[in-house]
Amino acid sequence: MKTVQTVAEWRQLHATYHAAGKSIGLVPTMGALHAGHVSLCEKARRECDVVVVTLFVNPTQFDESTDFENYPRTDEADREKMTTAGVDLVFVPSVAEMYPSGSDYTVQENELSRDLCGAHRLGHFTGVLTVVMKLLQIIGADRAYFGEKDYQQLQLIRGMTKAFFLDTEIVPCPTIRESDGLAMSSRNVRLSSEERALAPQFYAILKSAPDAAMAEQQLRALGFVVDYIEDKTDRRFGAVRLGSTRLIDNVSR
Ligand code: PAF
Repeated sequence: MKTVQTVAEWRQLHATYHAAGKSIGLVPTMGALHAGHVSLCEKARRECDVVVVTLFVNPTQFDESTDFENYPRTDEADREKMTTAGVDLVFVPSVAEMYPSGSDYTVQENELSRDLCGAHRLGHFTGVLTVVMKLLQIIGADRAYFGEKDYQQLQLIRGMTKAFFLDTEIVPCPTIRESDGLAMSSRNVRLSSEERALAPQFYAILKSAPDAAMAEQQLRALGFVVDYIEDKTDRRFGAVRLGSTRLIDNVSR
């Protein structure tokens, strides 16, 4: 697996892949890879000639500096997982490489980004859309793979590619869960053993409660701090906190 740190180096390689008619699959990540990320890499491996993973802990999408500082960084383990999943190349840029003009230019969405998680994490989706726009522009992939656990993020990225006529096809991938139902997330490692034991109730209650208000009540009774539970069209969305760890999930209704 090749490691590339600069846009210039990637562009040279991209030109050779392009000349050889190879299709490129992109899996954008912030590292701390788990089985959910691996499933995205494996799908990209099946569907594309060249699989590129980007590993960049994007500072602009963290609304709390402690969350950024404490975000798990597991580079060695990530490399092993990517190699096993057949990833060809990992792009690991610095903050200066990704933000040469600081935050002078951003991508702002004005509807959905203010709802659900956006209402609780100010500026979060502007940070996500800005970095994903940069990654899509840099990598020039045929397809980019995103998990449905971050459903609102996926919808916003799809909307952005449509609004800005981007060429990359956005491929949604199902949420991967632990055997007890907890959605895989890089932040799960920060749960204490008591919190980890309680965490699967989030998914169980999201699925089983008759309505959002009842789900919220049941979660609060168990000790979850609820940011929101909302039923929208055919899905139920939720975000909760256990101690200092924020969990999000969504289920179809
Ligand atoms: O879902 C994530 O890990 C991040 O939001 C993403 C899409 C890699 C952008 O930093």
